Amino acid sequence: MLNLPIQAKTAIITGGAGGIGKAISLKLAQAGVKIIIFARDKMKGKNTVEAINSGGGEAFFYHTDLSSSKEIDQSTKQVINLFGNVDILVNNAAISGYMGPVVETPLADVENVLKVNLISIFHLSKLILPKMIENRFGRIINISSVAYRQSPPNSATYNISKGGLNILTKTLSKEVASYGITVNAIAPGLVLTERILTSRLPGLAKKRGITQDEMMKELTAGTDTGKLTKEEDVAELVMFLASDVSGNITGEIINVSGGL
Ligand SMILES: NC(=O)c1ccc[n+]([C@@H]2O[C@H](COP(=O)([O-])OP(=O)(O)OC[C@H]3O[C@@H](n4cnc5c(N)ncnc54)[C@H](OP(=O)(O)O)[C@@H]3O)[C@@H](O)[C@H]2O)c1
Repeated sequence: MLNLPIQAKTAIITGGAGGIGKAISLKLAQAGVKIIIFARDKMKGKNTVEAINSGGGEAFFYHTDLSSSKEIDQSTKQVINLFGNVDILVNNAAISGYMGPVVETPLADVENVLKVNLISIFHLSKLILPKMIENRFGRIINISSVAYRQSPPNSATYNISKGGLNILTKTLSKEVASYGITVNAIAPGLVLTERILTSRLPGLAKKRGITQDEMMKELTAGTDTGKLTKEEDVAELVMFLASDVSGNITGEIINVSGGL
């Protein structure tokens, strides 16, 4: 069983109330970490916080729109005032943005995607790092995507945001390694979250003129392992990167994609 270092007491998980983020929140809460969720949907936030608290954990929801630097500042300052410091930062929240060719993509959408998927992570890292440096301990785990190397068409902004996130991960890891802080990224392949099952999968199947079952078989066959990635696969890797056995792993982009 993996153990967390003694210093790993408090974690911010962006988008930690739904999808992959929820699995990460539940996993770290089980390991005894105080969970702080930055997201917008109050009902989803309340449900996840209640699920953690009723299971004996401790969780808090901070309504934070990550496209707003003012809201990021406000929530982070409140958290630092209340809890002293943040030991684990999981930058999980992201949006897909406009799905279409570059020539049709509205510039306002490009700006918004980059704000949520990349600039907010730069900003949060800037705000959280001084305390991590003071404590000589920290784990920053960024959720990227295999999109950074596949670069599929019709999602240029998303692909760019994940490529940029990987570069930020590597650059930052070198700047803070000597303070006992690791910075890594996880790049999942397709993960069957509620959003993917209810919206993306039906959309893809419709576009191809095949059933959702056929679409699912095709996507699964595209992996080497014959398995799509599960939310828990990502959460387990977050737990590993936060644990006491991974202290010498930093600046890595780790794919969880069945070889995709
Ligand atoms: N699912 C996949 O197939 C897949 C594959 C590769 C990589 N990923 C990556 O994995 C991560 C999680 O993806 P997911 O599939 O779990 O997505 P998801 O279900 O859509 O969850 C993303 C979360 O981000 C939060 N969020 C979005 N915009 C926000 C904003 N402006 N401010 C604050 N929070 C915001 C949302 O919470 P609120 O609605 O409460 O704000 C939401 O819970 C993302 O980084 C994604 O790029 C996913």
